[in-house]
Amino acid sequence: SQELIKKLEETIENFPDFPIPGIQFKDISPIFLDPKLYEEVIADLVAFSKGKVDAVCGIESRGYLFGIAIAVALEVPFILVRKKGKLPPPVVSEKYDLEYGSAEIETREGQIKKGQRILIHDDLLATGGTTEATAKLVEKQGATVAQFSFLTALKGLNGDEKLKKFNAEIYHILEF
Ligand code: PRP
Ligand code: MG
Repeated sequence: SQELIKKLEETIENFPDFPIPGIQFKDISPIFLDPKLYEEVIADLVAFSKGKVDAVCGIESRGYLFGIAIAVALEVPFILVRKKGKLPPPVVSEKYDLEYGSAEIETREGQIKKGQRILIHDDLLATGGTTEATAKLVEKQGATVAQFSFLTALKGLNGDEKLKKFNAEIYHILEF
């Protein structure tokens, strides 16, 4: 709702030139100082996914902050998508390119089940690289990406262009 968007705009803090010059860092940590606002965020994200997914994949680390609460409210499993080397084997991994170099994400083998409709959740959609890799990780395990949800999305980076090929619903509460 407009009211929730306004509250979040007042709560999320902007830090110019952090962590490097040219980046406008949006710090979401003040949301967690306000349990009522946190509940409203979860209710909004849950409403988007209610009845539409069989499991939630949350992306390390800020994707866990809302992702677990969404999964619990939906009464579906939550699967941790972790950065390389954090999960015990066997794991399923996916490499992806960063601005400089590359990264890799993983899930425990067997936690995503064939045929499941998956919600991929993260706090922020920027270039879409992390989310696209997560969607590939889901599909190669025989599941379907049904939805993507984010707290925020950055305008002008066209992250959603990278996600179109998965034919899933895309939702974010607000844009910067
Ligand atoms: C940030 C953010 C998203 C990702 C978005 O995570 O939380 O996960 O970048 O970027 P992209 O759309 O360009 O891929 P970060 O890697 O900073 O790690 P964190 O969540 O552990 O803080
Ligand atoms: Mg992140």
